[in-house]
Amino acid sequence: MTTSALTATIDLDAIAHNVGVVRAASGAGVIAVVKADAYGHGAVPVARAALAAGASELGVAVIGEALDLRAAGIDAHITAWLHTNSADFSAAIAADVDLALSSRRQLAAVLDAAAATGTTATVTVKLDTGLGRSGVAPDEWADFADDLAKAVADDAVRVRGLMCHLARGDEPDHPLNSLQAHRLEEARDDLARLGAAPQVMHLANSPAALTRADLAYDLVRPGIALYGGVPIPGRDFGLIPAMTLTGEIALVKRIPAGQGVSYSHTWVAERDTTIAVIPAGYADGVPRLVSGRLRARINGRDFPQIGRVCMDQMVVDLGPDGSNSGTGDVREGDVAELFGTGADGGPTAQEWAETIGTIDYEILSRIGGRAARVHRSSVSPSDSVVTAHKVAGHTATGDRR
Ligand SMILES: Cc1ncc(COP(=O)(O)O)c(C=O)c1O
Repeated sequence: MTTSALTATIDLDAIAHNVGVVRAASGAGVIAVVKADAYGHGAVPVARAALAAGASELGVAVIGEALDLRAAGIDAHITAWLHTNSADFSAAIAADVDLALSSRRQLAAVLDAAAATGTTATVTVKLDTGLGRSGVAPDEWADFADDLAKAVADDAVRVRGLMCHLARGDEPDHPLNSLQAHRLEEARDDLARLGAAPQVMHLANSPAALTRADLAYDLVRPGIALYGGVPIPGRDFGLIPAMTLTGEIALVKRIPAGQGVSYSHTWVAERDTTIAVIPAGYADGVPRLVSGRLRARINGRDFPQIGRVCMDQMVVDLGPDGSNSGTGDVREGDVAELFGTGADGGPTAQEWAETIGTIDYEILSRIGGRAARVHRSSVSPSDSVVTAHKVAGHTATGDRR
């Protein structure tokens, strides 16, 4: 049970189901992408659930995220792919984290760390095959490959993987997808010629993993699909949204016709009505831009959110027959669902995203630290936990989204 006003309930069975969907569609091993605290779902419980459901490894953006997983006792293979000059490669090598490298400078820094610790580092080559973001730049590739081959010969590194990231994975038939794969294959051949062949190769994010089995290679790297998000708008892959965001109604009260609601009175009551205050605001990840365009599901009915979304709270209109009138059924302490699976026609994170022209990745990963994370699983019900959400240390958002 939780005493939190705002709760993000995470259905770990949904995560397990979604892992199965990706495995079946791709026919490949799964690197569960749990960066950004598993897109806001809680990295440690999600990682455990994904691994138990058949994911074979984990992927994160920054080393700190990998170290947090290790500290929680997770010993699965972990790849981290976003490093600044201040990255602690020594700590990563000591924790057996696979370091995906995007430049000669990063490789040199890893070699220094490996020499200092007297350990062979495990690395993945991250190549920019067309995304135009992280990854070894095409004009650095030949030199990078030479450096890497020398490091392999010296036993300073072991090349575990070769990866790239798609620019248009959510447009499955776009020719760039196959072109990026072709460039990755060429790089694999280069490395093999130099005696630095990678053991595994991967490029598919969620949309590609679900639609382009021909690009799955050894492993796929789904993120949003695991969380039951929307990898390709308009396509139904049978994924189940894992996060349900609910708030406990803090206050129910009558207001007279003509009363403005919330800052700047952008909504004014046209008739006497009843309003409810829900303790969720932009500090919790509710975008202020959705003001006046949300709905909340309370006791099985939808009510419109009215006026400005504030830092900590929002208001919904319960209507003239709201609870204080004696005919309504909404009371303080009732639970308002702000988004969930949508299975019962209720609001979804995707609906929020579409309302303001963004993607559900952003909505989910920005649900803030005040929302208690409650993890539910039928596999181990006794493990259901309330976790204070961890925000510290997860400042980098990592690749792509
Ligand atoms: C390198 C890399 N691989 C995989 C993913 C997962 O992407 P998606 O959530 O679209 O599956 C990401 C996320 O942005 C990423 O940066």
